[in-house]
Amino acid sequence: MTSRLRARRALRATQTAVLAGLLLSGTALTPVASAERAPLYRNPRAPVPVRVADLMKRMSLDDKIGQMTEGERAAATPRQAADARLGSVLSGGGSVPDPNSPAGWADMIDGYQRAALATPLGIPTIYGADTVHGHNNVHGATIFPHNIGLGAANDPRLVERIGAVTANESAATGVKWGFAPCLCVARDDRWGRTYESYGELPRNAVANSAIINGLQGRKLDDRASVLATAKHFIGDGGTAGGVDQGDARISERELREIHLPPFRAAIARGVGSVMVSYNSWNGVKDHGNKYLITDLLKGELRFSGFVVSDYNGIDQIGGGTPGLTAERVAQAINAGIDMAMVPNDYVRFIGLLKGEVAAGHVPMSRIDDANRRILTKKFELGLFEHPYTDRSLQKDFGSGAHRELARQAVRESQVLLKNDGVLPLKKNGNRIFVAGKNANDIGNQAGGWTLSWQGRSGPVIPGTTILDGLRAGAGKNTTVTFDKAGNGIDKSYKVAVAVVGETPYAEGKGDRPNGLGLDAEDLATIAKLKASGVPLVVVTVSGRVLDLGAQLPEFDGLVAAWLPGSEGAGVADVLYGDYDPTGRLSFSWPKNSAQEPINAGDGKQALFPYGYGLSYRRH
Ligand code: GLC
Repeated sequence: MTSRLRARRALRATQTAVLAGLLLSGTALTPVASAERAPLYRNPRAPVPVRVADLMKRMSLDDKIGQMTEGERAAATPRQAADARLGSVLSGGGSVPDPNSPAGWADMIDGYQRAALATPLGIPTIYGADTVHGHNNVHGATIFPHNIGLGAANDPRLVERIGAVTANESAATGVKWGFAPCLCVARDDRWGRTYESYGELPRNAVANSAIINGLQGRKLDDRASVLATAKHFIGDGGTAGGVDQGDARISERELREIHLPPFRAAIARGVGSVMVSYNSWNGVKDHGNKYLITDLLKGELRFSGFVVSDYNGIDQIGGGTPGLTAERVAQAINAGIDMAMVPNDYVRFIGLLKGEVAAGHVPMSRIDDANRRILTKKFELGLFEHPYTDRSLQKDFGSGAHRELARQAVRESQVLLKNDGVLPLKKNGNRIFVAGKNANDIGNQAGGWTLSWQGRSGPVIPGTTILDGLRAGAGKNTTVTFDKAGNGIDKSYKVAVAVVGETPYAEGKGDRPNGLGLDAEDLATIAKLKASGVPLVVVTVSGRVLDLGAQLPEFDGLVAAWLPGSEGAGVADVLYGDYDPTGRLSFSWPKNSAQEPINAGDGKQALFPYGYGLSYRRH
């Protein structure tokens, strides 16, 4: 570097430091030149801390409390959001514009942005949505396998690429904040969110937190980058009985050994936000736990991004009848929550927090800390310079290349659990009978958080079913026959494939306290196929391990497909041997439901242990 350049850089660094010092010390600055006529916070060349300090000096209490408030699109028009100075607007699961297309989303979100920029300080809003297996609310998005399958794939580099594609398809619609990844460590498979977990050991979520790098890109202000969210802090996968939003009755040692490492990893990767968990820890709701949020997360782990509550999570603090109260609002914000996800009650929240500040129950230092964190991320995202959707990204939305990546993820997530020589299926000269409720149902194979919160059976999204893949992959003189119930099976067929398992669910609706067995429909289908004497391959499409202990002897082959998403053909790639299975269990597979919870190292004898998986070459 030349000495002139070195000198110029040194001078600029000194100027910046002086400028920052003056601002942070509250010294009023007079414009130094006409080029600086715009307020300092609008100067993209100024350091972010300087821009934040300048902007906060200009903000009223209403501006600041508004920044800490997130409302749902269905409860806030752009005008209402701007009048309330909302810092963010979100789509809850399935809350979508009409048309539910990239253009429809961009028009909706740019509408909120236009209203926000028209306010006196013109602070851009940030739009958030659950992008937990692709941009899953939007019709036509690439839908990736849910985390349980990615955990079995054990390919963090692939997962990082999934994050990049997910961010690309999100940013293409104007969503610059994804409520993902879920880094929960599910310890009881009866929990309805087990499929949102990468595995039962912290190492699975630690390794796959690589998705954050994909989501946030090389730089947060890259046009296709989005802000990631490490969720849910903390202990959601450790509740007694796997009860969703229940009580994690565990020691601090276990909390730190099992549930904390993924958040350390996420922070090391620069995750921009953390979402607090609904569950309690030893009887205290996380949303009101200052030790967890402020002392542990922000203090010990030095998390410098911002903390968002979960959807109406503040309403549950202290137990009793849920609802926003002044006490709960004060406790949540004083605990360290920076942004409140109060989808429908944002006006009430703002009023209550304002009252609590006036009453001295919430110090301005807390309000300022929250705003500093939120505004820092908005500046780092480049939202002040590029507030509107970059619609040039829409050309790749749901593209063949994106779907090919998803299909590769499906291939790598398949776990071959049993094979008495019946797999791989011969492509030529074969007669394959396919049955089961999940063989030709893209809604079932995508699972929850797909177009709607709970997901839905049926042809809900574009893509390929497992049956589509089997039909497309069939070679010369091969027939593939399908009957969901197995009617028509006879000895003329050389192999039967039963695709069974679960139908879509999300969160508490997926809790299964009464056992993990197959339902009556699946058992009947399997029995019909078995009675024919034709060799039988069973494929499970499910959000968790299932209780198959009693039926396993009847199976000649068994593959766990998890929730593969839109590219079901990837399952057929493995069944035909086009891809030799490499998946390994990231969850212990129980002999029966009574073994729950069952985890590696707990001394219980699993049907298939953590890390188990066969391949065709090596049986
Ligand atoms: C939900 C979930 C959380 C999600 C949020 C917004 O209840 O717990 O994972 O990000 O609400 O949809």
